[in-house]
Amino acid sequence: MIKNTSIYNCCVIELNRIHNRSGNLTSIEGMNNIPFNLKRLYYLYDVPGGAERGGHAHKKLEQLIVAASGCFDVVLDDGKNRKVVELNRSYYGLYVVPGIWREIINFSSGAICLVLASEKYDAADYLRDYNEYLIYKNENPSVI
Ligand code: TYD
Repeated sequence: MIKNTSIYNCCVIELNRIHNRSGNLTSIEGMNNIPFNLKRLYYLYDVPGGAERGGHAHKKLEQLIVAASGCFDVVLDDGKNRKVVELNRSYYGLYVVPGIWREIINFSSGAICLVLASEKYDAADYLRDYNEYLIYKNENPSVI
């Protein structure tokens, strides 16, 4: 388990863009454009105005979050630092390392939040309570 990650380990990755008169295409290959192999892809859509998603951290999961359509803000929090990343282009992906609390807010109408994930779904990988998350981060912070 990786606990000593910080929001500064997360970064926006510019993805490739193949442009022609008929539109744009972006492709993502695991371990090529992004630093992990994909085991799962999911997407959030039909998000009602004012709704917030996320509100949890993962112990092991790495993710790339892309605004496939529209825009939204991702709030990253490592228990000490906090930053907001606005995603509004389909060719930018936010790489989120394990052990980061995230919330996704301010969805525009029709926004699609595409998430590429390094592992299959595992409910045991989630930390859903912020106080438990802080305890988790503070326990043995250098243990990997
Ligand atoms: P959750 O990860 O809490 O969504 P968000 O962070 O976007 O608010 O997941 C919502 C529900 O969907 C929860 O019951 C778990 C389920 N789920 C799956 O079954 N498979 C998945 O790959 C994901 C991401 C969620």
